[in-house]
Amino acid sequence: MHSFTYRNDILHGEDVNLEELADRVGTPAYVYSANTIRANYRRLDAALAPLPHTICYAVKANSNLAILDLLRREGAGFDIVSGGELFRVQRAGGEASRCTFAGVGKTTAEITAALQAGIYSLNVESEAELERINAVAGSLGVRAPVAVRVNPDVDAKTHKYISTGTSQNKFGVGLDRAADVYARAAKLPHLVLRGVQTHIGSQILEPEPFAEAAAKLIPLVESLRDHHGIEFFSIGGGVGIEYNAALASGDPAWWESADHPRRITPEDYAAAIVPILKPLGLRIFFEPGRFMVGNAGVLLSTVQYVKKTPAKTFTVVDAGMNDLIRPALYEGFHEVAPLRVTPGEPVVMDVVGPVCESGDFFAQDRPLPPLAAEDRIALMSAGAYGFVMASNYNSRPLPVEVLVDGAEWKIVRERQTPEDLIRGESLAG
Ligand code: LLP
Repeated sequence: MHSFTYRNDILHGEDVNLEELADRVGTPAYVYSANTIRANYRRLDAALAPLPHTICYAVKANSNLAILDLLRREGAGFDIVSGGELFRVQRAGGEASRCTFAGVGKTTAEITAALQAGIYSLNVESEAELERINAVAGSLGVRAPVAVRVNPDVDAKTHKYISTGTSQNKFGVGLDRAADVYARAAKLPHLVLRGVQTHIGSQILEPEPFAEAAAKLIPLVESLRDHHGIEFFSIGGGVGIEYNAALASGDPAWWESADHPRRITPEDYAAAIVPILKPLGLRIFFEPGRFMVGNAGVLLSTVQYVKKTPAKTFTVVDAGMNDLIRPALYEGFHEVAPLRVTPGEPVVMDVVGPVCESGDFFAQDRPLPPLAAEDRIALMSAGAYGFVMASNYNSRPLPVEVLVDGAEWKIVRERQTPEDLIRGESLAG
């Protein structure tokens, strides 16, 4: 689902004309659609209705306060990975008691803050971490709720940087060791065993790996339920989205139709896992990030120059890899959509940013409508892992973020200023 469509040849986000918006707020600018996010939440929630479940939105995908607030109002809990994300959730009105805390490197300070705030579960990635949590809880005079992240050794068939459920990566505890780790945890006096967690990777476009991972863990989960009274089983996030054809037809009905090449829907996902998970009788947690916000965001940019060389046509835009790093880091594909439909034959071009790196590209050798200086484009499906992975590289201020809701829009994070770039810095002498 998305809400970015052409009306009278101009791209709109919901009912907002994005060309006019770009004139008002400047570029580069992230624009998010509130109603797309709401619809995504409600669709997944409905598909999972046969299970007692909690959707803990993976904050890392997009942690803007306005988006956290919107999802909190829909009923989401949160999956966090740092003290900073906990702080954001709390600032957005969220409760730690509706948060799970994942990550391989939780510091003593982060564990302390999470326990003091009343975290629902610390999802533990190693025995050393269990010992640390036990010690911190003891010193605070509390019992820490924990789940162990179990690595099912399943191939998620996704990019190697975002595949997490095989024995080759740093995450979780192997399935063969999980029972021993739980036995150890059960002996530590300041812990309460609350659940089991797994997550096999991100941008997964087929239901089978999720079903395989869930099925592999069932015997362990049943045994923990029977012997330790755990409350939940989290099967993580990872539901993929369509990047390649977000706007190809300009028709949202086509997007939902059977002709669409999309390979996973919330309903497919639920159909694969519900039969496996329902007999457990436990609360099932889901940690979707990308699915909630990916197609709900675009990055607007303005063409600066068109540079033709004997080999290529380079369209140089004012957004760079510092604003959206996915193409550079994962060869991630983002559709390039002109904000105004321009007549003319497609031109094969590279769309590149101003950053001093050859990896600073958004499209390579891609046929696109002819573009000229001052034309505006949208880099589609940039709502997840876009702004959150942006940096100040090349001393470029972080872009403005805007939330569109129907015909209304609001700046939900100001564009950084040059002063922001040097905040906290000082001369040595
Ligand atoms: N739960 C855990 C424990 C995770 O590690 C992640 C993502 C999620 C949930 C949410 O996964 P999602 O539903 O968004 O796939 N920057 C990369 C993606 C990194 C994902 C990291 N972990 C990208 O831009 O493709």
